[in-house]
Amino acid sequence: MEQSRLDLCVFLFLWFGLHFVHCDLSYSVKEEMKRGSVIGNIAMDLGFEVGTLSIRKARIKTVGRERTYCDVNLRSGELIVSERIDREEQCGEIASCVLNFELLLESPLELHHISLQIQDINDNAPSFPTDFIKLEISESAVKGARYRVNAAHDEDIGPNAVQSYSLKRNNHFVFNIQTTSAGSKYGELILDKELDREERKEIKILLTALDGGSPQRSGTLTIDVTVLDANDNAPVFSQAVYEASLPENSPLKSLIVTVSAMDADDGVNGEVTYGLGRISDKSRKLFSLDRQSGEIFVAGDIDFEDGTRYEMFVEARDSYGLSSDTKVIIRITDVNDNSPAISLISLTNPIPEDVSPGTEVGLINVQDRDFGRNQKVRCAIQQTVPFKLIPSIKNYYSLVTTEKLDRELVSEYNITISSTDEGSPPLSSVKVVHISIADVNDNPPVFEEQSYSSHVRENNKPGHSLCSVKAHDPDWRQNGTVIYSLLPGEVNGAPVSSYLSVNGDTGLVQSVRSFDYEQFRSFKVYVMARDNGSPPLRSNVTVSVFITDVNDNTPQILYPPPEGNSFMTELVPKAAQGGSLVSKVIAVDGDSGQNAWLSYQIIKSTDPGLFKIDLHSGEIRTQRDISDSDNMKQNIVVAVKDNGQPSLSATCSMFLLISDNLAEVPELKDMAYEDSSSKLTSYLIIALVSVSTFFLTFIIIILGLRFCRRRKPRLLFDGAVAIPSSYLPPNYADVDGTGTLRSTYNYDAYLTTGSRTSDFKFVTSYNDNTLPADQTLRKNPTDFEEVFGDLDVSPEVNR
Ligand SMILES: *[C@@H]1O[C@H](CO)[C@@H](O)[C@H](O)[C@H]1NC(C)=O
Ligand SMILES: *[C@@H]1O[C@H](CO)[C@@H](O)[C@H](O)[C@H]1NC(C)=O
Ligand SMILES: *[C@@H]1O[C@H](CO)[C@@H](O)[C@H](O)[C@H]1NC(C)=O
Repeated sequence: MEQSRLDLCVFLFLWFGLHFVHCDLSYSVKEEMKRGSVIGNIAMDLGFEVGTLSIRKARIKTVGRERTYCDVNLRSGELIVSERIDREEQCGEIASCVLNFELLLESPLELHHISLQIQDINDNAPSFPTDFIKLEISESAVKGARYRVNAAHDEDIGPNAVQSYSLKRNNHFVFNIQTTSAGSKYGELILDKELDREERKEIKILLTALDGGSPQRSGTLTIDVTVLDANDNAPVFSQAVYEASLPENSPLKSLIVTVSAMDADDGVNGEVTYGLGRISDKSRKLFSLDRQSGEIFVAGDIDFEDGTRYEMFVEARDSYGLSSDTKVIIRITDVNDNSPAISLISLTNPIPEDVSPGTEVGLINVQDRDFGRNQKVRCAIQQTVPFKLIPSIKNYYSLVTTEKLDRELVSEYNITISSTDEGSPPLSSVKVVHISIADVNDNPPVFEEQSYSSHVRENNKPGHSLCSVKAHDPDWRQNGTVIYSLLPGEVNGAPVSSYLSVNGDTGLVQSVRSFDYEQFRSFKVYVMARDNGSPPLRSNVTVSVFITDVNDNTPQILYPPPEGNSFMTELVPKAAQGGSLVSKVIAVDGDSGQNAWLSYQIIKSTDPGLFKIDLHSGEIRTQRDISDSDNMKQNIVVAVKDNGQPSLSATCSMFLLISDNLAEVPELKDMAYEDSSSKLTSYLIIALVSVSTFFLTFIIIILGLRFCRRRKPRLLFDGAVAIPSSYLPPNYADVDGTGTLRSTYNYDAYLTTGSRTSDFKFVTSYNDNTLPADQTLRKNPTDFEEVFGDLDVSPEVNR
């Protein structure tokens, strides 16, 4: 019974990369099936896997109707009845009753036409226009006289329609069925045996109409015949069929058509009244008939979309009950009264911002319930948005992207789709489709600046804030959340994390330890900003840290050696003239710039007029010729001061012996200052002499070894102190001959006891580590930086 048939696969075409296969399916089903009854299996008939239907969002759409009547079961692929289908309601008397549907599948869009043939079942019984009619027949009527009786009607068709009539047995009448030239049927009651009013005044006849269905249904008509004296002519219509056309929406009481029937009789017998005969319930609500004039008026809302053609029968009846009928056909013409209806069939929302141009994001259907040109629609987007409509099958349009989308620029669109039909005047409608754009992690964090730098004074506290880095990421939520971190690396062989830390949330860069300008003056690290997307995007920036000097190193005197260690004495020849070089104080300062600019001053001396010291070179010279009256033992105290703010200083004592040979030297203890304890001094002298002796021997051995390997260097000057140029750092000259030596260099210093004949080489390796770090941390920060900031960038740092 649910015989199905895959009709024909009409055509296949490619359009904008979408494949539309258009196939027709045709099914047949009986009317009045229960809900859920299976009509056929669509999936099987189209050759799909059952799952395909739900994946491709298969659905049934009606064509030109509001109700669907059937549905597709996505799990089984079956087409099922979803609402009561009444063939008579859908098609009336039309023999072939077909409902059209569309099966819509997405991605790619595919449309199938389904036609559903509704089969009739015998669900209506025959019925007469009225249950009861009254006939008045003259007793003079002859045998064979015919009396018209309207035929019974059965809404079913074919074999289920009226097939036969049976008249209850009686003595006077037989029943016969006739067909008019218009094809409609009517009955005739034929007088078989003359009536005799005197014998029987009234006859009751029962007429039964039977259909051919199974089970058979029937309808009855009671005819009351009153026997009268005379007989009349039945009224006759001027036309067998009246046809009229009526625009929809015609106002109430508009005249549609006038029917008229003539009765040949005179007087009362010729008075014709009209009545609606067989008429559908729907027509009865829409049309009214003037009983006297035969005019048919509009009595309800005429809607072309509801029905395009109405048929009815009008009866004309004379006073004696003789009647005839005519068919009235009213055709409704379309008026452009429906604006196009835009419906959104499907929409991908939100759309990821990285969809490529030309991606289908939605499907739109436009329907106009009007007819012909009034139904033709055009659909467009009037705004400038990166979307367009591409017409696909019939009234379907694909909404596709035309450009790359960027959520960071436009995060949502309200797309106004307008549709206009071709009626006159045209009607149009709009629909706003809201589309939001979903984020994709497509933007890396971007630092506000290309690089960051920070100046920090040495000896800073750990945790000192150096600078703050900031990166922006315009993406959404976690895709735009920036996390900072240090890129692993090394500074001076130690991991960067032991120098700096960066706050992951705020980007604040802090020192982890205290920096020492004397160790390094600047370093560079990379800070990375990463977003929280998956996968994350990152970027990096350099952070340069410049350490500025603080005057934290006291000058360190290399020669003469610190008191207590040795007790050196310079010999000054008696014949020395004024201005001759006697000795030299050599000092270095670990700081740089002004902080290491050393100046020398004699702060105490046995004979203040005898010696002077050069402020910058530290060279000690006689101020005047030595005279015999001068004390043989001279003691001077030299202060070495750097130029920092505040400045740091160191002092040393120097013993000078005015003599031409050591043999003349008196007891050394006398040379000690009066303020030194004489006992201690004598111990010191003993210690000094022994240590010096040992030390000199040692030095001479070293020097001997060294001279074997290397040529004797050229001496800078012929004075008591000689510093060979090859042993000086290359930039020694930069420091204005102040004698300042850089902390990181090894250097050799030539020292002498002052005798021009007995030079010796004093070899040492100066190293920062020999200075206790906490020895001097005196600072006067602000003015220091202002004055000496420029000096920091000497090129000799960090080798
Ligand atoms: C879109 O329409 C909605 C609701 O009408 C409104 O809230 C929103 O601001 C509109 N967006 C744009 C981009 O116009
Ligand atoms: C972040 O981007 C990814 C793709 O890169 C996306 O799947 C995710 O939904 C985005 N997150 C948010 C909160 O938008
Ligand atoms: C830092 O970023 C640049 C590009 O911005 C990249 O070439 C370089 O490899 C990155 N450096 C590190 C250490 O990741």
